[in-house]
Amino acid sequence: MLIFPNRDNLHKIVILNPKGGCGKSTIATNLASYYALNGATPALMDCDPQGSSMRWLDMRPGDRPKIHGIPAFKNSMQATRCWQLRVPQGITHLIVDSAAALGHLELREVTQDANSILIPVMPSPIDIHAASRCISDLLLVAKIDRQDRQLAVIANRTRANTKSYQKLMSFNASLGIPIIAVLRDTQNYIHAAEQGLGIHEMPRHKVKKDVAQMSDVVDWLGTWHERRRDPTSWRSKQTQVIHFENALPAVG
Ligand SMILES: Nc1ncnc2c1ncn2[C@@H]1O[C@H](COP(=O)(O)OP(=O)(O)O)[C@@H](O)[C@H]1O
Ligand SMILES: [Mg+2]
Repeated sequence: MLIFPNRDNLHKIVILNPKGGCGKSTIATNLASYYALNGATPALMDCDPQGSSMRWLDMRPGDRPKIHGIPAFKNSMQATRCWQLRVPQGITHLIVDSAAALGHLELREVTQDANSILIPVMPSPIDIHAASRCISDLLLVAKIDRQDRQLAVIANRTRANTKSYQKLMSFNASLGIPIIAVLRDTQNYIHAAEQGLGIHEMPRHKVKKDVAQMSDVVDWLGTWHERRRDPTSWRSKQTQVIHFENALPAVG
């Protein structure tokens, strides 16, 4: 049972999509690294039995800014479960790397009280289909209200000008859920992960493009207070999505 602490200053970010390999752990670890690097105190909660995020944290060099790891996938005695899942005081960002296959109960659990829910989607027909099911479960089963503006899609491992990419974009537009960022397919994520680092910790000249793309994610996440408190900003976000759609390259 997951119960997130109800602290006003704690941003609860859930990365979710039952499809394995879409980039959940990559985005979770890169966000943790970004926040740690920028003076925040993040916690990274790994709910996936594969334990990729915790393995990444184990590989992280000792001299890098600290990230608090919470291996939620590990079974522990009920009495110690609360202790295992505790989010220490002073943590400002809780990043949840969710498991691949989630039942309805688990889906409700992991999304309840989330301020931001990020859905990475790769632009292939199979992935788009899986994402559409995931989003409909979020809306119908987890009762996420689009008007609450917690949900956003990240197009991951994209190569522009492909038909699948275009399909992904029109699929998202039809759902009215913002596509907040488009991340390219690059070895930079793989090389960083191998060292327990995020792209922001790699040599600048190699990752300039990726840092810029990731900043779209960070910027959207940065609006969590505003999204929570100002219902009118949804309309302005919608307008941005439409502008983004217009800026898309032609199908190649
Ligand atoms: N934008 C990207 N470019 C290149 N490789 C990526 C990208 N995003 C993820 N990967 C790689 O794809 C694989 C699966 O990503 P991962 O984050 O583990 O997915 P998930 O956690 O959803 O199963 C990993 O090897 C990861 O390094
Ligand atoms: Mg993973």
